[in-house]
Amino acid sequence: MLRILKIGGSVLTDKTTEGSAKLGEIERIAEEVSASPGDLILVHGAGSFGHIHAQRFGLPSRFDPIGLLETHRSVVSLNSLFVSALSKRDLFPLPVHPLSSVLLDRGRIASMDPSIVLEMVKRGILPVLHGDVALDRSLGSGIVSGDQLVSYLARELRSDLVILGTAADGVMSRGRVLDRIAADDLSMIEEELGAGPGFDVTGGMRGKVGELLDLAQYGVTSRIFNATVEGNVEAALRGQAIGTAVVP
Ligand code: IPE
Repeated sequence: MLRILKIGGSVLTDKTTEGSAKLGEIERIAEEVSASPGDLILVHGAGSFGHIHAQRFGLPSRFDPIGLLETHRSVVSLNSLFVSALSKRDLFPLPVHPLSSVLLDRGRIASMDPSIVLEMVKRGILPVLHGDVALDRSLGSGIVSGDQLVSYLARELRSDLVILGTAADGVMSRGRVLDRIAADDLSMIEEELGAGPGFDVTGGMRGKVGELLDLAQYGVTSRIFNATVEGNVEAALRGQAIGTAVVP
């Protein structure tokens, strides 16, 4: 049983104010993860630790070494806060920085060795990855979102449970949460898939659904749920059907 949980940057940070972490939320989520430990890969987004920097330096369309460093440093500082909260609960986390382990090609992961995170999980370690800047062999540089990392790892490692905690109840259509969404439904809800508040260089809910529909093509079902609601992270980790399922 291998589980992958992504916590969106909008859950961990205030996306409208640069570098503003929601420390109480980070602690709460670490606590909920500790209720259901083991066989887990954790990925988190950048929120206001990354999107604002990326935007400022013109990433991903411009190659800017200073921008890469500043954006990476920022998201690493959020990663450190999360790793510390997890470590206090004896979850044995280790940071995994995509900048030094992923090569992109036109914005998509061209190479990444998933056996490293798998080996960590086998040894009782909780790998903690994050959305990051990365080198791109065609474009120079790019941004690898946490959602793309989830989709890639879930496919490569044949994960049994793939859950994405966001600040929304799931995928919305006409004011209500959809129980499930498949590729055929996309055209129907495309207009409603807007970006959330604050800066987002990786496409918001639209980007997320796109990644998960890609994953669904490989037969993997995933779930988008609201991680700002207390108890939801723990429930989703236990396999409870909350939010919207993205199905093949
Ligand atoms: C974005 O990662 C990474 C950078 C901007 C450096 P995500 O796309 O996974 O972040 P969130 O969840 O939208 O904040």
